[in-house]
Amino acid sequence: MGAESSGGRPSGAGIGRREVLKLGVGLALAGHRGPRALWAQEPQRTRPIPSSGEAVPVVGLGSARTFSDRWGGVETDALRQVLRLFHASGGRVFDTAPTYGGAETVSGRLAQELGVHRDLFFATKISTGGGVEAGLAQDRGSREAWGRDRIDLNQVHNLRGVDIHLPTLRDAKAAGRVRYIGITTSRIPQHDATEAVLAREEMDFVQLNYSLGERQAAERLLPLAQERGVGVVVNEPFNGGRLFGAVRGRGVPDWASEFDCHSWGQFFLKYILGHPAVTVVIPATGDPEHLVDNMGAGLGALPDQGQRRRMEEYFDAL
Ligand SMILES: NC(=O)c1ccc[n+]([C@@H]2O[C@H](COP(=O)([O-])OP(=O)(O)OC[C@H]3O[C@@H](n4cnc5c(N)ncnc54)[C@H](OP(=O)(O)O)[C@@H]3O)[C@@H](O)[C@H]2O)c1
Repeated sequence: MGAESSGGRPSGAGIGRREVLKLGVGLALAGHRGPRALWAQEPQRTRPIPSSGEAVPVVGLGSARTFSDRWGGVETDALRQVLRLFHASGGRVFDTAPTYGGAETVSGRLAQELGVHRDLFFATKISTGGGVEAGLAQDRGSREAWGRDRIDLNQVHNLRGVDIHLPTLRDAKAAGRVRYIGITTSRIPQHDATEAVLAREEMDFVQLNYSLGERQAAERLLPLAQERGVGVVVNEPFNGGRLFGAVRGRGVPDWASEFDCHSWGQFFLKYILGHPAVTVVIPATGDPEHLVDNMGAGLGALPDQGQRRRMEEYFDAL
């Protein structure tokens, strides 16, 4: 099994000089200091998927709402830029679902236009109240949307029909239509049920909500995932964006530079990545400058246990 790496470039994740320049400009526009030079020198941190040892970059990208064409309309140029910068900066894990109001179709189209659809780690979901046939239809639809014969990770969304769709995903894995399978949740009242499924079923990944604002997963779910050798995808890392509201008007504390943190986005993401059970975090953004900011969380040091406690105390005192 592979080990965590904050060096060693993941395959295909090279950043060309022009990309670095553009990313630097993006950072400058976003008013960031510090990590600019790192882009040129340092690849994204990776962690191994426990079930295979395959290394994946720790900062991924979510797509609910941001890539949807149903709520508020899609800024396609900005999204194209977000996806391009994500790939160019070494990001790989892209999370979507057939029920994200068109986000899977929009992201699949943009990824194919950019020619990165095979390079990205395509994570999607079976998200239906229907039976086996409905699940299979979504599996087919997802592969069509991204122009892929094989999905990298397919997950049963919010445990819905988990007893029906996990077996479907196991068959799909055996048939080579998906490489990894898992389940997702994003609500604390569902954590007990998630724990029960995680304890009894074999899977490669569990996706769950965990952030400075919602730390409950650290009590039982994260230790159980570690014990079971299951990778963890963290969703809602900014608590759906609410964490930025809590710190509005403040700069990050000076001591955040001890773990190479230069913005609130990085503060929130590095807190999560500092937990050893976490494989990848999937912040969502439709803003290229925020994307560049967030990718900075995959560079440099991470907070240790003592520093993470300090982050919690700081956040709780706000
Ligand atoms: N049950 C499930 O399976 C489940 C449930 C929830 C979420 N998810 C997955 O997890 C992903 C992430 O969760 P989420 O989308 O709910 O919320 P989130 O990532 O916690 O927050 C997204 C919000 O943060 C803002 N933001 C992002 N980066 C920022 C930065 N650097 N500075 C300031 N603001 C920033 C975004 O606005 P801008 O666009 O302006 O940047 C957006 O409003 C989803 O997209 C989805 O893929 C899965």
